[in-house]
Amino acid sequence: MTTKDEWIAKDLKYVWHPDTQHKQYEGENFKPILIERGDGIYVYDAEGNQYIDGVSSWWVNTLGHSVPRLNKILYEQANKIEHILLADFTHRPAIELAERLVKLAGEPFAKVFYSDDGSTAVEVAIKMAYQYWYQKGQPQKRYFVSMTDSYHGDTLGSVSVGGIDIYKKIFQPLVFNTLKVSAPYCYRCPAGCQQGKCNIECLKEVVKLFKEHHNEIAAMIVEPLVQGAAGMRIYPAEYLNRLRILCDEYDILLIDDEVAMAFGRTGKYFAFEHAGIKPDIFCVAKGITAGYVPLAATITTDKIYNAFYDDFDKVKTFYHGHSFTGNPIACAVAVETLKIMQEAKIVENLPLKAEIFKKNLQKFKNLKHVGDIRHIGMIGAIELVKDRETKEPYPFEERIGHKVFLEALKMGAILRPIGNVIYFMPPLIITEAQIEMLTQIAYYAIQTVTEPNT
Ligand SMILES: Cc1ncc(COP(=O)(O)O)c(C=O)c1O
Repeated sequence: MTTKDEWIAKDLKYVWHPDTQHKQYEGENFKPILIERGDGIYVYDAEGNQYIDGVSSWWVNTLGHSVPRLNKILYEQANKIEHILLADFTHRPAIELAERLVKLAGEPFAKVFYSDDGSTAVEVAIKMAYQYWYQKGQPQKRYFVSMTDSYHGDTLGSVSVGGIDIYKKIFQPLVFNTLKVSAPYCYRCPAGCQQGKCNIECLKEVVKLFKEHHNEIAAMIVEPLVQGAAGMRIYPAEYLNRLRILCDEYDILLIDDEVAMAFGRTGKYFAFEHAGIKPDIFCVAKGITAGYVPLAATITTDKIYNAFYDDFDKVKTFYHGHSFTGNPIACAVAVETLKIMQEAKIVENLPLKAEIFKKNLQKFKNLKHVGDIRHIGMIGAIELVKDRETKEPYPFEERIGHKVFLEALKMGAILRPIGNVIYFMPPLIITEAQIEMLTQIAYYAIQTVTEPNT
């Protein structure tokens, strides 16, 4: 029988892991953890060690691991039809899911375009927005505006609108030009304002850009309320609200990348609800199947769709599709996910949990190297700094977040960080007691690493 260590040796021989420097696995220190099963908020490794999944396995899991109802529907759908192309053919799960998504998002949303993951949903949105203007007789509207430090995926189109160096710098010669505005990073405000006491001055930059270039701008794409990959940087809903008004004023489409935030993360089904606005196009993925199987959707209005609707020979068709577009198993799991969420009132029950979460996060103020504490809904983040007064960051090479991650693993929690930011994005079904446990582990892990002498 193959032992755990043999599995790991084979893993390192054959598997190239994402976002991973494999040299770190040399020697005896740290190796990939072999996970064998999951149950609720917990996953278990090959030695039976239990870990709280504090990051929802890359922000995908919402209803916990190995959910009996989802397991059943997946099996049942596979027994009916596992896959069928979605051009000239259709199937009930794709239809039912599209109807549910449109109704959940509300008017004016009308059409759902399926793809496979967050990056492809963003690619679809970008191409859809450009082709919309092209077919409206304005092909010069070809630029996309996005925020500094934004993240919209790892494919080249989504990297183009992204702004994080680590994912983009090397590929700069390959990506298309975009326009950037400073992100509303409130802890280190680009307009020099004090956190929580501003009139969204950072939007002035957007106004200037729109005024000068609106004739060439197709759309602005945003991560709504939270810049996830930048370190769970949370900005006010007012920003998004005013951005909608500006986009309308300057005839610019608003693309809302809800890939990480939709389906409850911020305390509502969609983050745009906090701002009381509707984007022109929005993207969902990750939690759409509760983290079970890949599926994504780009959702839009009749205003956009009608620009593509014409006689065949006018060549206005949206020529975009992936082999697994609208896969029946994925759509069936997504429909069941939405049913569970609605029947169990998952989102409706979040406010109480979110309050407990917020309260627990306040305790981190006692730690000397905690610079900023951020919270919205079921997301919490702790930005660690070398010096609290000056906000001096820990150097990249110090891997302070990674050290905290290793400590937390020993205590039974997965808190894979983003640089110097330790964040929580647990499955939504986490209980209040489990929130306490998770935050306590994080507290002690941070204390052990950053204040070793206490
Ligand atoms: C806001 C946002 N958009 C897009 C993506 C890309 O999604 P995927 O990794 O499924 O391609 C992510 C992934 O984290 C994301 O956070």
